Amino acid sequence: MKKFRVMFVCLGNICRSPMAEFVFRDLVTKAGLEDQFVIASAATSTWELGNPPHYGTQAELKKHGISCAGKRAVLLKAADYDKYDLILGMDRENIRDMKRLFNGDPEGKVHLLKEYSTGGEVDDPWYSGDFQTTYNDVSLACNNLLNDLKQKLR
Ligand code: 4NP
Repeated sequence: MKKFRVMFVCLGNICRSPMAEFVFRDLVTKAGLEDQFVIASAATSTWELGNPPHYGTQAELKKHGISCAGKRAVLLKAADYDKYDLILGMDRENIRDMKRLFNGDPEGKVHLLKEYSTGGEVDDPWYSGDFQTTYNDVSLACNNLLNDLKQKLR
C-alpha cells in the first residue's frame, strides 16, 4: 500500500513543527490510519539539532495526553523533497528557506500549514511564550488536513 508522507517544518524543530508532528500522529492513530502515513518534522536551521522539543511544547502536548518522547531536532534536507508528498511550513520564512533548499517547488508540495485552516502563519512561541495558541492553531489545521487526506486515501 502506498503511504502518504507528511513533513512538518519550522526554524528550530523544537517548538512548532514537533507540536504539529505529534498532534497529527495522535489524530492519525486515533483514526486507525497509522499504516497509511509516514509523518516527520524537521528544521530549516542547524541551531537546535539534537535537542528535544522545547519544554513548552512538551508540557502543552502532555496537557492533551500526547507524548513526544524520543523526538530530537533534525535538519531538513534537499532529498526530503522527493521523500514526502506534502511539506508544511509554519511561517513564510520557512517557505522561503525551503524553496531555496529545494530549488523551488516544481511539484507544488510546499505549503503553509494554516492553508488548511484560517490562512496565515503559526506564530513562534519561542518568542511569544504562548504554546497554547500554537497548540490551538496546529490542532485545527491538522484536523482539517487529516479530513482532506482521508478523501484522497479513499
Ligand atoms: P521553532 O522555534 O522554529 O518553532 O522550533 C524556534 C526555536 C529556536 C529558535 C527560534 C525559534 N532559536 O532561535 O534558537
